[in-house]
Amino acid sequence: MLSYVKRSKYLLKRVENLYNSIEITDGEKMIQGYGMASGKVILMGEHSVVYGMPAIALPFLDKGVECYVQEYGNGIFLETTYYNGDLDDSPELLWGIKHLIIETLRVLNKEDINLKIIINSRIPAQRGLGSSAAVSVAVVRALFDAFEIKLNDDNLSQLVHIAESIHHTDPSGLDAKTILSGKPIYFKKDTLIEEIEINFDGVMVIADTGVKGQTKQAVQGVKQIKEKNYSMFEETIENIGLLTEETRVALGTNEIEKVGVAMTQTQSLLQKLQVSDHHIEKLVRVAMKYGAEGAKLTGGGKGGCIIALCKDGHTANNVSEKLLQNGAKATWIYDMKEKGMYE
Ligand code: PMV
Repeated sequence: MLSYVKRSKYLLKRVENLYNSIEITDGEKMIQGYGMASGKVILMGEHSVVYGMPAIALPFLDKGVECYVQEYGNGIFLETTYYNGDLDDSPELLWGIKHLIIETLRVLNKEDINLKIIINSRIPAQRGLGSSAAVSVAVVRALFDAFEIKLNDDNLSQLVHIAESIHHTDPSGLDAKTILSGKPIYFKKDTLIEEIEINFDGVMVIADTGVKGQTKQAVQGVKQIKEKNYSMFEETIENIGLLTEETRVALGTNEIEKVGVAMTQTQSLLQKLQVSDHHIEKLVRVAMKYGAEGAKLTGGGKGGCIIALCKDGHTANNVSEKLLQNGAKATWIYDMKEKGMYE
């Protein structure tokens, strides 16, 4: 397994190479910028975080987004996996990014600039791994870098919120804050973000159901449950909140079993909120059958990814293999001690 440090050095080398390869024409400095961001994994507290309960999230360090900006053509040209063309004509999936780019250029006072924006994402989209927030962070960083304007975290958060609001209606901000921090965080909407030290021997397997998650619909569904059956809703999100608090303590005392139990109990509560589905439940069952201490969905749900906590790397490798044999489209192993990852 490559350590996180080695991987970071590798990423930095790639960035250096990229800069060296960009041409500077006629002795004039060409406008060019670069930004990157990692994804995130929600360990505990998705959905309940929207209603003020705590959440714990980790950066998904190796799966990053890189964005390159350079002077080009006429207007703004977007180059992504899904779409190559004028920003004005971009498909609905990219409207959040479109508005983000327009607003960022307005803030930078560069509305009439001609640019090509290349977005290169290694985070699978719509899988609850923070791809949309990471793209937003990388794009804003690249645009500010292109005009050599210093970017502080407050400005970055506000700009990223524009795109997130289009993707999610009323996001808690958990995705963006985890990505901005690059560290494990304990988060409460609008009130608290604490970076947490994790000294934990657990090894997590992240598995992709291969089905696109539907965060917006899932969040709306929970809102409807709140309107129809308030007492069940309240009890459920409060219980998820309690399990998240217990997890925070158990992460500090290195109690893998306790974290695992809290994860599996949270999965049952998320099922009550109807944000799970049969793809998720199948992978959770497989993970538990082959030795995971606990497993649950991560992110918005209704598709997307699961996480399974294992007590060591050997068990994690076995669980990962079984998940792949039983329908997972991809898996990643996240060593929580090293905070490094391998596929
Ligand atoms: O699906 P994701 O990775 O964007 O995560 C959404 C997390 C929710 O708690 C469901 C929504 C939110 O705004 O926090």
